Amino acid sequence: MCSSPAPFLMSTMFPILETSLVACSVLMSLPGGANCCREDLREPWVPRNRMPQGWRLRGSRGHGERLILIFSSRYSRLRQWNTLYLCGTDEYGTATETKAMEEGLTPQEICDKYHVIHADIYRWFNISFDIFGRTTTSQQTEITQDIFQRLWNRGFVLQDTVEQLRCERCARFLADRFVEGVCPFCGYEEARGDQCDKCGKLINAVELKKPQCKVCRSCPVVRSSRHLFLDLPKLEDRLEEWLGKTVPGSDWTPNARFIIRSWLRDGLKPRCITRDLKWGTPVPLEGFEDKVFYVWFDATFGYISITANYTDQWEKWWKNPEQVNLYQFMAKDNVPFHGLVFPCSALGAEDNYTLVSHLIATGTLEDWTRNIPRE
Ligand SMILES: *[C@@H]1O[C@H](CO)[C@@H](O)[C@H](O)[C@H]1NC(C)=O
Ligand SMILES: *[C@@H]1O[C@H](CO)[C@@H](O)[C@H](O)[C@H]1NC(C)=O
Ligand SMILES: *[C@@H]1O[C@H](CO)[C@@H](O)[C@H](O)[C@H]1NC(C)=O
Repeated sequence: MCSSPAPFLMSTMFPILETSLVACSVLMSLPGGANCCREDLREPWVPRNRMPQGWRLRGSRGHGERLILIFSSRYSRLRQWNTLYLCGTDEYGTATETKAMEEGLTPQEICDKYHVIHADIYRWFNISFDIFGRTTTSQQTEITQDIFQRLWNRGFVLQDTVEQLRCERCARFLADRFVEGVCPFCGYEEARGDQCDKCGKLINAVELKKPQCKVCRSCPVVRSSRHLFLDLPKLEDRLEEWLGKTVPGSDWTPNARFIIRSWLRDGLKPRCITRDLKWGTPVPLEGFEDKVFYVWFDATFGYISITANYTDQWEKWWKNPEQVNLYQFMAKDNVPFHGLVFPCSALGAEDNYTLVSHLIATGTLEDWTRNIPRE
């Protein structure tokens, strides 16, 4: 039996403009590195084996993680484990910038407005977070820039030039979803900058015929822009080594293992981590003053910065890989960011970060309940 109760840290993150939960994580610290209570601690995290017979859950992406989190936090509190339950909104990116433009507000005003709406919703559901944080904080900037600097100094960041569509009237580069045009493959007139809804083919936005800016309908021009790339191929060996130590015997779900395996099988490619936007974490590098980090480079660091905004003891959770077990729950489309990009960034930064020990991915809830053994 376990003598000292293990402190828990739980965190959740929501994209500011969506109401569905994208991912959440739970940090579990074992004082002194003891794992005597491992079996006890496992209990709340494997609800699928313990769900009462005949339970059917219905819902879309996101609800599964939320349910697990509510059960888990209540359970660990009931057991009187030291629990810190964090939640937050992930606020940067193009979607926020565009919504702000539509509503005639600044991105910060939009985030302030929606952050309160989110907080009210969860209060209404009686989900009692210890802290409801956000990614637009000074801690997010400091931690992201620090991780980036460390990656840069260690040669894990590359530079390259990319051709992009720029709308001169709106005076900005257009994210793929803000371009429409004629599909170069099937001629469909309303193809998007990333994909054609008719033939389903992936499209490179600069290949669209008769491209139009979705906001002002004028014709964008092709311009080149310098960007930074995380050198994932160079980090692949470390990732493999870490996965080899972490995944066997863990609670990584089969779909999470499969998704990571298939990315590795196809070979990792350098991944662009900057965007020509104003709304985001500034890039601390000469020549990149008018760019920000891609929201998916720094969103996962939000778990760390929200903890840092809550307590100056955050390093006890986040730079303590031997004594902290990190559980992360998410929809399966977020597996690459949590199971691959985030670990590669943290491994490359060489700063003793706590990495995910157990990655639990849900599909839709339908996929998820299908895995529940029915005795
Ligand atoms: C909300 O949760 C608190 C603490 O868990 C409980 O005391 C209260 O009765 C709950 N309220 C509702 C409406 O469920
Ligand atoms: C946490 O972030 C908010 C929002 O940026 C800020 O107002 C507050 O001062 C921060 N708290 C700490 C302790 O840094
Ligand atoms: C990393 O953290 C562990 C505690 O989890 C500690 O024992 C170890 O010394 C740290 N390593 C480095 C390189 O700081």
